[in-house]
Amino acid sequence: MTSHVKPAEGYNGLTTLEKTLPSHFYFDADHYARELRSIWSHNWIYLCRSADLEGPRSYRTFTIGTQNLVVLRDETGVLRAFHNTCRHRGSVLCRQAQGRLKSDLLTCPYHAWSYALNGELKRTPTLSPIEGFDRADYPLYPVALKEWRGLLFVNLAGDEAASSGPVADRGSDRLDNWPLEDLVSGHVYEKTVRCNWKVFWENFSECLHCPGIHPELCDVVPIYGRLITGERDDPNFAAHADSDDPALKGGLRRGAQTWSMDGLVHGATIPGLSEAERHAGHSYVTSLPSVFIVAHVDYVRVVRVRPLGPELTELHAEWLFPADTLEHRDFDLENVTSFPTLVLDQDAEACEMNQQGLHSRAHAHGVLMAEEHYIKQFYDWYWAALGAYEAG
Ligand code: FES
Ligand SMILES: [Fe+2]
Repeated sequence: MTSHVKPAEGYNGLTTLEKTLPSHFYFDADHYARELRSIWSHNWIYLCRSADLEGPRSYRTFTIGTQNLVVLRDETGVLRAFHNTCRHRGSVLCRQAQGRLKSDLLTCPYHAWSYALNGELKRTPTLSPIEGFDRADYPLYPVALKEWRGLLFVNLAGDEAASSGPVADRGSDRLDNWPLEDLVSGHVYEKTVRCNWKVFWENFSECLHCPGIHPELCDVVPIYGRLITGERDDPNFAAHADSDDPALKGGLRRGAQTWSMDGLVHGATIPGLSEAERHAGHSYVTSLPSVFIVAHVDYVRVVRVRPLGPELTELHAEWLFPADTLEHRDFDLENVTSFPTLVLDQDAEACEMNQQGLHSRAHAHGVLMAEEHYIKQFYDWYWAALGAYEAG
C-alpha cells in the first residue's frame, strides 16, 4: 500500500475510484444509434459560422448522424434551419453541400413542390385539386437554430427543448473579450479519425498523455509536461502559492505569446484582452458534444467534432483572425497553423490507438487516474444526456 498526503482544499483531482464507460460503448452499432437519438438529437450541435452563409438565398446542408438538414438565409438576411426533406413524398431538397438558390423559392427536385424560405409551401404542381388538402398544413419541417457569437447551432429536439438552455456549457463568458463575430477565417483543417467521438473528448479532457504524445506542446505550455492542465490538479499546489513558474501555475513558457511554431505572435494582437487572458495564452469554451473553441491573443480556433459512424469521427478546425492580420503582406500563416495542426494530428493518432485497443474482449472497462477529473465530468454529462431522452 502507498500512503498519500491528503490534498489541500481546492484540489481538483479525483480521489475515489471511477470506471471508464463500458468498452462496447465505443464501437457497438446499436449503442451508437441510441446516442444519435438521444445525445446528438437533444443538444445544441455546432454547424458552421453564420458568415459561411453569405448573402440572401445562400444555403448549406449538414448531416448529424442519420439526419440531413439545410440551413438557409432568406432575402432579408434571416437564417433558418429545416430538415432537408420534402413534405410530399420525402425527397431530399438540396443535394449540394452548399450553394445559392436561384429564386426566393426552394423547389424540390422530384415533383417540384416549392417552398418559401420561411418554410411555407407555395406551389404543388398537379392537374386536379384534392379535397381536404391544404398547403398550409405542409410547411418544411423546422429545426431550431441559434446563433451564438457568430456560430450557428441547431437542436433536433424541436422548439420546446431548443428554446431553453445555452449553447456553450462551460464558461462561455470566457470569450467576451474576443471579437469572435468579426474575425475572419484564415485556415481550415479537416481530418477523419478512426475513433468513436467519445474517445476524442476523453483525450481532449486530460494531459496524462501530453509528455508522451505532445513534446512540442509541453515546451510551449510547461504545466502540460507535468501531466496536468491547471495548478489545482497538483495535490501539492498550496506549496507553490507564491510561485510564478508556468510549470507550476500554467500559462505559456516565458517569452512565448501564443500557440505558434516559435511561440510568437505573427499578426495583429487582439486588443482589449485582460492581462490574465494574455498571460494564460489560451482560453477554452466547450459545447458538448460538438465543438470546442480556444482563443489565443492573436487568433481563435474553432474545432468541430462530428460522428460519422461508431468508429469514425470528423474533425474540422478553423482558424479565425482579425481581418488586419490576413491582409498584412508579411503575415506568417504557416507558423500559426502548423503548430496546432501538429497537436491535432498527434491527438488523432492517439485516439486511433485508443480505439483499436478497446476491442479486446478482456477489457470490459478501464479506470481513471486522479488527473482525469475532466473525463469524470464528461461522463457525468454523458450519462445524464444519454438517460434524459431515452423515450426519444
Ligand atoms: S417528393 Fe418533393 S415534390 Fe414530390
Ligand atoms: Fe492531446
